[in-house]
Amino acid sequence: MLIIVKDDYEAMSNEAAQIVADRLRRKPDLVLGLATGTSPLGMYRALIQMHKQHGLDFSKVTTFNLDEYVGLAPTHDQSYRYFMNVNLFNHINIPERHIFVPDGMADDIDAHCEWYEEEIKKAGGIDLQVLGIGANGHIAFNEPGSSLGSRTRVKTLTDTTRWDNARFFERREEVPKYALTMGVGTIMDSKELLLLANGAGKAAAIKAAAEGPITAQVPASVIQLHRKAYVIVDKDAASGLSGRYPGTWRSSFTLEVV
Ligand code: F6R
Repeated sequence: MLIIVKDDYEAMSNEAAQIVADRLRRKPDLVLGLATGTSPLGMYRALIQMHKQHGLDFSKVTTFNLDEYVGLAPTHDQSYRYFMNVNLFNHINIPERHIFVPDGMADDIDAHCEWYEEEIKKAGGIDLQVLGIGANGHIAFNEPGSSLGSRTRVKTLTDTTRWDNARFFERREEVPKYALTMGVGTIMDSKELLLLANGAGKAAAIKAAAEGPITAQVPASVIQLHRKAYVIVDKDAASGLSGRYPGTWRSSFTLEVV
C-alpha cells in the first residue's frame, strides 16, 4: 500500500487525476471503477479539465460504478447515476454503452447483481477502482460486518451512513435504506485501487484502514491485502496515522507501508 499525503483537497484531487490520466494514456480502453460522493469530486473536475484542455480521451473507456440506492431511478437527482452524469459523464466523451451503474430500480435485484458481476468479467475486470471511505470504515456500501469475500448484492445501510448522506436530501427520512453495491471481493479483484479521503472526519477511518487489524468491522482495512493500493489523503485525513512516520508534514510526501 502506498499512502500519499497531500496538503489539501485540491492537491489530493490533482494527484488522483494524474494517476487516472496516466493509466488511461497507457491503456486507452481502460476499465475504470468509479465512486460517488465528495471525495472523488475534485478528481472528476480535474479529469474534465484534462479532457477539455488536453484532449484526454475517454472514447474507449468502460466504467463501472460501485453502488446505487435501491428505489431511485437514474433520473432522480439523488441517484448515483444522476450524480455521475452531472459530475463527469456529461462532460467527457465516454459512449453511453460503456457506462455501467447498478440499477436501483431492477425488478430482480439478485439477477441484476449477477449480471453486473458478469459484465465486469466480460470487460476483462476492473483495471483501476476509485474508492472513498465512510467515517465508519465502509467502502462502497459494504458496511461494517460485511463479508470480506462478498460480491455485488443488496445491503442495508447503517444509520451512520444514512445520516452522513442525509446532507444531500431534503429530509433525513428520504435517504434510502438499501443499496446495491459491489462486494468487498469484487473490489479486491480490481488490478489497482485508488482510495481518496480528506478532512479530519476521515482520520480515524484512515488510521483503522491503513494501520489497524484487517477486520470485517472495518471493511476498508482489507486493502492492506491488495497488491497495488494507493491511498491519497489530505493532511487532516492523515492526522491519525501513527508516529512510525516521523517529522512534521511536508507539502507532499509519500509513505510506503509494506
Ligand atoms: C460512494 C461510495 C461510498 C463513499 C463514502 C465516502 O459511491 O461508495 O463508500 O465513497 O461514503 O463518501 P464521501 O466521499 O462523500 O465522504
